[in-house]
Amino acid sequence: MSFDDPYLLLKAIHILSATILFGTGLGTAFHMWLTHLKGDTSAIAVVAGNVVLADWLFTLPAVIVQPFSGFALVYLIGYDVLAPGLLAVYGLYGLAGLCWIRVVFLQYRIRDLARRAVAEGHALPPAYHRAIREWFALGGPAFLAVLAIFWIMVAKPGWA
Ligand code: HEM
Repeated sequence: MSFDDPYLLLKAIHILSATILFGTGLGTAFHMWLTHLKGDTSAIAVVAGNVVLADWLFTLPAVIVQPFSGFALVYLIGYDVLAPGLLAVYGLYGLAGLCWIRVVFLQYRIRDLARRAVAEGHALPPAYHRAIREWFALGGPAFLAVLAIFWIMVAKPGWA
């Protein structure tokens, strides 16, 4: 084993990036949901702001690195880029990505509505509750899609 083996290096980057992608998603969702259940508006404003930042710092780079390192591995190993298992991965990754893009917009709205409620001293408005419900509903399919991708990556059905 050596660091100058491009296959091992790429695979390590790919797996590290998958870990950041999944871990950040799970960690921020857990933190945001528990803070919402507590109902403390100031805490919600702070946590939603941190979650927005975490998505820029960790999730976005991992979202980009994941397909780049993945396709580099496909090329290096010589897999068929159109193998059925990989086609399923593209579809699932696209689905998770669409959910995530919407979630990012919702997080900005959640943060801003909570900040305004704190500044103006009123309760969280109905728009906040609509946004947090949609945010939570999108987390389910995105989470399941990434779990399915993990399984396909490990089992490699029909492409290795
Ligand atoms: C988006 C396009 C993606 C492509 C083209 C791709 C491609 C690949 C390839 C070619 C390998 C190497 C398999 C081998 O060594 O034989 C691999 C491994 C792996 N991928 Fe992906 N991948 C993608 C996305 C993802 C995503 C989104 C995740 C999880 C969030 C993921 C997690 C993993 C893991 C954990 C491994 C290691 C599996 C093993 O070596 O048994 N990949 N991927």
